[in-house]
Amino acid sequence: MTEKELLARKIENGTVIDHISAGKGLKVVQIAGLENESKETMILLINVSSKQLGKKDIVKIENRELAREEIDKISLITPEATINIIRNGEVVEKKRLEIPDMIEKILRCPNSNCITNENEPVKTKFLIQKEPLELKCWFCERSFGIEEFKI
Ligand code: CTP
Ligand code: ZN
Repeated sequence: MTEKELLARKIENGTVIDHISAGKGLKVVQIAGLENESKETMILLINVSSKQLGKKDIVKIENRELAREEIDKISLITPEATINIIRNGEVVEKKRLEIPDMIEKILRCPNSNCITNENEPVKTKFLIQKEPLELKCWFCERSFGIEEFKI
């Protein structure tokens, strides 16, 4: 069904993450729910019919905009998604996601022998290569696919 046929509720204020690649919506909810222990209401639509994508997922978050770190994580798992900022029931801003060139602090290195996984507090840092998507650890210099990270 399309979003309209589903009678999915519009939100008054908050963020709608649209055009999420089908199947990744739950991950987006996890990302948005983890940060700041957010208690905001969320709506998750899975396998919605879309003209452009065939099927897509949609996540609506009431009364909150996403932090940079959340947007960066979402861009890594579903780069074609769009972020719509809603105020007073209107879309006031529509942003395309962009995969960053570098991502700091928020991902753990999958290499258990990496210095960033020892006791000393070292901030992680990965350089990102886009096609194909690969993240290279600044410290152990190993490259990883996105599915190797616990996001
Ligand atoms: N939306 C919402 N609540 C609102 C306004 C919009 O939940 N008050 C949702 C819409 O249902 C849609 C998304 O936000 O899932 C984007 O809205 P809109 O830009 O109006 O839709 P489209 O024009 O179809 O977007 P696009 O061109 O990006 O496909
Ligand atoms: Zn490493």
